[in-house]
Amino acid sequence: MTESYELNHHSYDVVVVGAGGAGLRATLGMAEQGLKTACVTKVFPTRSHTVAAQGGIAASLSNMGPDSWQWHMYDTIKGSDWLGDMDTMEYVAREAPKAVYELEHYGVPFSRTEEGKIYQRPFGGHTTEYGEGVPVQRVCAAADRTGHAMLHTLYGQSLKNNAEFYIEYFATDLIMSEDGQCQGVVAWKLDDGTMHVFSAKMVVLATGGYGRAYFNCTSAHTCTGDGGGMVARAGLPLQDMEFVQFHPTGVFGPGMLITEGARGEGGYLTNSEGERFMERYAPTFKDLASRDVVSRCMTIEIREGRGVGPNKDHIHLNLSHLQPELLAKRLPGISETAKIFSGVDVTREPIPVLPTVHYNMGGIPTNYWGEVMCPTAESPDAVVPGLMAVGEAACASLHGANRLGANSLIDLVVLGRAAAIRAGKVVDPEAPAPTPNPASVDKALGRFDGLRYASGSTPTAELRLEMQKTMQNDAAVFRTEKTLAEGLEKMTDVAGKLGDLKVTDRSLIWNSDLMETLELTNLMPNALATISGAEARKESRGAHAHEDYPERDDKAWRVHTIARVAGNTVDLSYRPVHVEPLTSLEEGGIDPKKIAPKKRVY
Ligand code: FUM
Repeated sequence: MTESYELNHHSYDVVVVGAGGAGLRATLGMAEQGLKTACVTKVFPTRSHTVAAQGGIAASLSNMGPDSWQWHMYDTIKGSDWLGDMDTMEYVAREAPKAVYELEHYGVPFSRTEEGKIYQRPFGGHTTEYGEGVPVQRVCAAADRTGHAMLHTLYGQSLKNNAEFYIEYFATDLIMSEDGQCQGVVAWKLDDGTMHVFSAKMVVLATGGYGRAYFNCTSAHTCTGDGGGMVARAGLPLQDMEFVQFHPTGVFGPGMLITEGARGEGGYLTNSEGERFMERYAPTFKDLASRDVVSRCMTIEIREGRGVGPNKDHIHLNLSHLQPELLAKRLPGISETAKIFSGVDVTREPIPVLPTVHYNMGGIPTNYWGEVMCPTAESPDAVVPGLMAVGEAACASLHGANRLGANSLIDLVVLGRAAAIRAGKVVDPEAPAPTPNPASVDKALGRFDGLRYASGSTPTAELRLEMQKTMQNDAAVFRTEKTLAEGLEKMTDVAGKLGDLKVTDRSLIWNSDLMETLELTNLMPNALATISGAEARKESRGAHAHEDYPERDDKAWRVHTIARVAGNTVDLSYRPVHVEPLTSLEEGGIDPKKIAPKKRVY
């Protein structure tokens, strides 16, 4: 090590890393039970990426018409292309209404119906009668700023319950005992350069997705897969990383999200011939088919020469037929986004849009209580003591191979809350906090110091761009044997160059060069696991559209991919999907006949 670092020690029952919707819901739930809880976050809580969530949160409240948790569960299963874990899907669909009413009582300012109930809008893939009926209005919304409203409320409630916040602290690595228990995290305080050791009986990773592994995405620049990076370095696996969601309507060019709520409120897509082409591909649900389907149809239109614009390289989203009052009331945020980022007045002109990387279905494998799993052949659901993960960082496999819109916000609150419930059972507030393993702390500091003084020949920004371009080109909406094999080779090479990084700023205070370098070391294992899993999966399922294997193959591939990343190599294995719901039909659960795998059409 070039330098020695003075350490500031902290000790908690629970340390949550990340302050987005899942991190805050977990923090709040832990603190409410009297657990001594710290939330360590690299950005101010209300700047976390959940703030960008627009359209809403799915729950079968039945405020706008008939609905049931069984229908929500069915839609989630079909949306997942039968890769989701049934226990998680049942738990979330059942608990969703309760979790939304909790949010309401905490103070989330939901939009309202005339009678004062929570307003709900339609979203893609959400239906009635097990997919046989009309689209359902299931998505509870606060105009088109639902995530913003949730974050502010959850942060306020967490403070009220005495959770302690460590803001603008970058957690660099997990502290692991010799026998594989998580004991805390090492963190760097960005504004004064001090180093911190947090010991905890339970660490909860809520660090969000890794959208920034791609060149064009709706995700904030902070979405760098930090939890996945920490887990991979601790020798733990990632799950189902090949499933990356492209949202159909990112603003063409800069990629900002235009909510699916725009189509929920009556917007529609057109090609260069002015045709509402989704009617051809998805005759029943049209523009409200699920996201993977709509993104593929848009890509086909462009490929076949029916894109709009001088280069025929994007699609139009039409809202100008909607009443200006409705646009102002229900979609004010995206009306502003369209104006600022594409110069479009939505009351008069269509918005230029393109499928854009939006969400990672894969992540750190967990059960529906948020406990991190480290599957082995003998014990596919084995858990890692002291470690949980929630939100987009995690893969509890609610979403399987494709997530339905608005199922992300419900995932954050139901599973963030579930993690708190579980921690309340397994964390003993009277027990002493673990003594952090000195070898693990030294290893984390050594890595930090090595990057701080990195003196290779490749600037961080250059290597990041190489990774982003490779992922964008070779792990795209449509994939082939050729693009995936080439992409894997390129990514192996790109990841190999981490050892040649060049950091020019050696300081410790507000050192964005070092911070971006640490983030790149987190993005890289996520990206590598994504392309490796995709290259290996010889079928099409959900967001993984493999042109050489266009059909889903349940016999061979209804399995979760488990990826262990070490340096620039990835070891793949597979774990069975949980195919049993929690509740039998006799006890009021879903009819097993309804959820048997079948062809997925909208
Ligand atoms: O389209 C949207 O408002 C995004 C929602 C989501 O990703 O769940």
